[in-house]
Amino acid sequence: TFVMYGFNGQVPGPRIRVAQNATITVRFHNRIDLPTTVHWHGVRLDNRSDGVPGVTQDPVPPGGDFTYTVHFPDAGIYWYHPHVREDIEQAMGLYGNLLVDSPDTAYYSPADRDVSLMLSDLLIHADTLIPFGREAPDFVLMGRVGNVLLVNGEPDYALSVHRGEVVRFFLTDVANARTWNLSIPGVPLKLLASDVSRFEREVMVPSVILAPAERYVVAAEFDRPGRYPLVNAVQAIDHYRGEFDAEVDTLGWVTVDSTPAAPDYRAAFRVLRANPAVSAEIARYRPYFDRPPDKRITLTVATSSLPLPTVQFMSVDTAYFHPVEWTDGMPEMNWLSTAREVRWILRDDSTGKENEAIDWHVRQGSVVKLRIYNDPHSFHPMQHPIHLHGQRMLVVSRDGVPTRDLVWKDTVLVPVGSTVDVLIDASNPGAWMLHCHIAEHLGAGMMMTLHVDPSR
Ligand code: C2O
Ligand code: CU
Repeated sequence: TFVMYGFNGQVPGPRIRVAQNATITVRFHNRIDLPTTVHWHGVRLDNRSDGVPGVTQDPVPPGGDFTYTVHFPDAGIYWYHPHVREDIEQAMGLYGNLLVDSPDTAYYSPADRDVSLMLSDLLIHADTLIPFGREAPDFVLMGRVGNVLLVNGEPDYALSVHRGEVVRFFLTDVANARTWNLSIPGVPLKLLASDVSRFEREVMVPSVILAPAERYVVAAEFDRPGRYPLVNAVQAIDHYRGEFDAEVDTLGWVTVDSTPAAPDYRAAFRVLRANPAVSAEIARYRPYFDRPPDKRITLTVATSSLPLPTVQFMSVDTAYFHPVEWTDGMPEMNWLSTAREVRWILRDDSTGKENEAIDWHVRQGSVVKLRIYNDPHSFHPMQHPIHLHGQRMLVVSRDGVPTRDLVWKDTVLVPVGSTVDVLIDASNPGAWMLHCHIAEHLGAGMMMTLHVDPSR
């Protein structure tokens, strides 16, 4: 049993369900022992309610209050979390979903029920939580990768459904650092939507990969009675032995009883719908897809005064790099590295400026092509889920390969050595953060501001 933080005393915090285009007022009172704020992740809201200390508001001190006004222009699944010391506050339970319903009842292909799953982890040794850095985040190389996996705050998730049910899962990765590869062996999954929209076309997928802060909406068809595990199946690497290991963790179970589902949506499940409304909206952005990038950033890292064994180990280890670190294969090295020794960097290729020194201004209504390159030759390369506040973007290509099935995103995973081109729809005026969503990388400087200047 651990004492956690909780929005309204709950982990996850209350799921706030609203109609698209609704505006809500949230009176926030800080009753924890740290300063904090609330950020409404992925929502294209009024900049004043974005919850970023030093950019849109002052941190709310213990005992303090703040009132947020949140308008929801886009249907889909979003989430809220603090924007102060996320490495502690989010890890300790401060996260909740925002489910925004489209007025179109056929927005998603039909399902018998909607289920939200918030995926996180905790780092525990024996009966204690591994302590958090007080002045600065620790575990700053890989991020704090937990060893107890949680679904909606529970280590043993359970769901019961009827035979033939189609279930819509709204998945959100709220972990500090973990990227997941989720599946339900024996159960077909159909990908419907991601961060800020539906996909142009539905597609069957063997599994769903989610990086920190990403959301995916999938439909699952439970055709036969039985018990089905929800698994995270990844390729782990042992950095000491230099070996790969398949790592499969069961997050919970879905029990399918023999009562037939009513209504029966299986026929509709098996049809892969196109969403012409999504393609039609994207059409006006297509002329920008092949333009040269307007902005370029490189992702890298700088270190100073790390313990000598860590430095020696890392220089051997980086003889091989892998595109995505699914687990922490070097927890001792990682724990010792704090934001005092390690600085994660977003570097503007044209000016050489880094992190908060970058000061981009674009006009509201412009479409900005941004090229992000994750340098594999740094001291410790790692994947970075890059998040932009308050706007939406399209991932138009990865390593020069155009995306076939587009979807509006607010977070994009950039694997080690990859180049990702995104098109930003700079529609929402204000000062907006762009940062890595690994809490410890953000805490070690990996952030900048994009100013969208109002068009008059
Ligand atoms: Cu999930 Cu800066 O945010
Ligand atoms: Cu990162």
